[in-house]
Amino acid sequence: MGALTNVLLLLSLATSQTQALYYPLREYAGSTFFDKWDYYGFVDNTTWGNVTYQDRANATSKGLTSINAAGNAIIKVDNTTSLVAAPAGTVVNRDSIRITSQDSYPLGTLILLDALHIPYGCSVWPSFWTLGLQSTWPGSGEIDIVEAINGMTRNQIALHTPQGCNQATTATQLQSGTTANTNCAEPRGCIVMENKQASFGAAFGEGGGGVYAMSMEREGVYVWFWSRADIPSSISTATSSSTMDTTSWGLPTAAYPASGCNITQYFPPQNLVLLTTLCGAWAGVPSIYSSTCPGTCFADNVLGSGTNYANAYWEIRYIRTYTSDSASASASVPVSSSTSASAAQGGGGTTVVTVVTDAAGPTSSTSGADRKSVV
Ligand SMILES: *[C@@H]1O[C@H](CO)[C@@H](O)[C@H](O)[C@H]1NC(C)=O
Ligand SMILES: *[C@@H]1O[C@H](CO)[C@@H](O)[C@H](O)[C@H]1NC(C)=O
Ligand SMILES: *[C@@H]1O[C@H](CO)[C@@H](O)[C@H](O)[C@H]1NC(C)=O
Ligand SMILES: *[C@@H]1O[C@H](CO)[C@@H](O)[C@H](O)[C@H]1NC(C)=O
Ligand SMILES: *[C@@H]1O[C@H](CO)[C@@H](O)[C@H](O)[C@H]1NC(C)=O
Repeated sequence: MGALTNVLLLLSLATSQTQALYYPLREYAGSTFFDKWDYYGFVDNTTWGNVTYQDRANATSKGLTSINAAGNAIIKVDNTTSLVAAPAGTVVNRDSIRITSQDSYPLGTLILLDALHIPYGCSVWPSFWTLGLQSTWPGSGEIDIVEAINGMTRNQIALHTPQGCNQATTATQLQSGTTANTNCAEPRGCIVMENKQASFGAAFGEGGGGVYAMSMEREGVYVWFWSRADIPSSISTATSSSTMDTTSWGLPTAAYPASGCNITQYFPPQNLVLLTTLCGAWAGVPSIYSSTCPGTCFADNVLGSGTNYANAYWEIRYIRTYTSDSASASASVPVSSSTSASAAQGGGGTTVVTVVTDAAGPTSSTSGADRKSVV
């Protein structure tokens, strides 16, 4: 591609992303990282991995969620319990964690994840994504920001929606990643593969981790990734109260412009979800598992001492959320209000000033019948 073409593409990207300036809303970090999340607290009944997601009390007492000496959040799979085979029909699950943000975020939101380590290894399936809890999956949308399995070395981004939302063909000119599927209603979603090295697997942590960013606007959904050394200075020099300017970020890895998908229609306010499952409907499919890993998913990984899961942990410096609505940003820090939550989810008639609204609590946070990434 010539330089002029690049300039034109960047200009068209700039005009398609009308929002470049964002105001800080919430930071999940340090000793309060886990305060504004709900713990799932039962088996993986959405992707059918061989895990039981622990509640907050168990997660804390079993050391599966904690803050380390550096002040970073650790979210891990149990790697100290020895599991043995049991009679057919007996559930033998390993303990893991799934957390859902109590806040839901409407269009006009930017989300940053700064991580030093992301779970990896055979059978391991981590993900950081958003989910609309308003209706049965995928009725209220899903945006997969970080997701990969087993021996994959690159991240994979996807949207999940009902019929009618596609990645526009023009998107390939607006992104650095490689499109693998354009129909967001197919079970695997509309997928863009990251081409950057060290976006997943052992190399991610060895490179000092990095930053994932996702903006969701009426004009489109965009996802970026940078390894530690390449993080734009607007991010690396920011504090939790800094505004964030996306102008100098360059092409995103994945672009889903509104020309192919009515973002307003398909993406009501989204909750953040972070989890690690094992095997299940993607990582555990025998033909998929065997493409990067030896043996069989459950018997050769989930069973046994658990020492193979020493790398199955997230280490997170922060998750920060921002709004492009300056009025909302100055009018509020995020509030907990069931009134505003129902309004944001379409249940109320009043316009709320707060752009971040707490979901109605554990019941609604765990009600999303998502069956993401089933292949
Ligand atoms: C908490 O841990 C105990 C002991 O392992 C287990 O019996 C119980 O089912 C766990 N609770 C949840 C919600 O996973
Ligand atoms: C592991 O999960 C798969 C998929 O849900 C299930 O078929 C299998 O029975 C599980 N294995 C055990 C031993 O629980
Ligand atoms: C997109 O969806 C919104 C909400 O359903 C609707 O108001 C709007 O007219 C739609 N835009 C287009 C271009 O279809
Ligand atoms: C369990 O994993 C942690 C990292 O999360 C590691 O430091 C520890 O050595 C592992 N324990 C065992 C028994 O492998
Ligand atoms: C998963 O199980 C929990 C607890 O039984 C339940 O509340 C929830 O609705 C289930 N989710 C799905 C998608 O089946």
